Amino acid sequence: MKKKIVLMGFMGAGKTTVGKYLSEKLSCEFLDTDECIEAAEGRKISEIFASDGEKAFRDMETALLKKLQEKETPFVLSIGGGMPVREENRALLRSLGTVVYLKTSKETILKRVAGDVSRPLLQGGELEEKITSLMKARESIYIETADRIIETDGRTPDELAEELLGVL
Ligand code: S3P
Repeated sequence: MKKKIVLMGFMGAGKTTVGKYLSEKLSCEFLDTDECIEAAEGRKISEIFASDGEKAFRDMETALLKKLQEKETPFVLSIGGGMPVREENRALLRSLGTVVYLKTSKETILKRVAGDVSRPLLQGGELEEKITSLMKARESIYIETADRIIETDGRTPDELAEELLGVL
């Protein structure tokens, strides 16, 4: 098993929850790119998008991935759903470790993110339409980037973490 595991997937796929379970089972550190950026900036992702714009946030994501390349100890990393859209990030993610795509249906995502105000890309307008068009644009990117694809619908985070332990 490679020493670093990257959990990728759409907003609401459960990357952070599964990542925490998996890191406990592996007794290694857990990192979440959104949390790292919020801690470094001292403000919420929604505030970064509102005052600096999406491009600035994407630059912060790339800078963080570059910094993580230098980290030698093992970790499980949960990434923001839009991270792999940038080609440069895809190469960085793959060089970091094993990239797992947590694949989740639109119906499940819709249920999970309904009412969420923390994700700027899902605010305003029709939620289902936003999810449909973002998923359409990203699905092939996730598949192209992934070393492993795991279907998450109807499964608990603990079950998913166990399955990952078995296949990685
Ligand atoms: C984003 C996903 C979010 C966060 C930001 C943008 C995206 O992370 O990085 O709101 O572009 O899909 P989660 O996937 O953890 O919700």
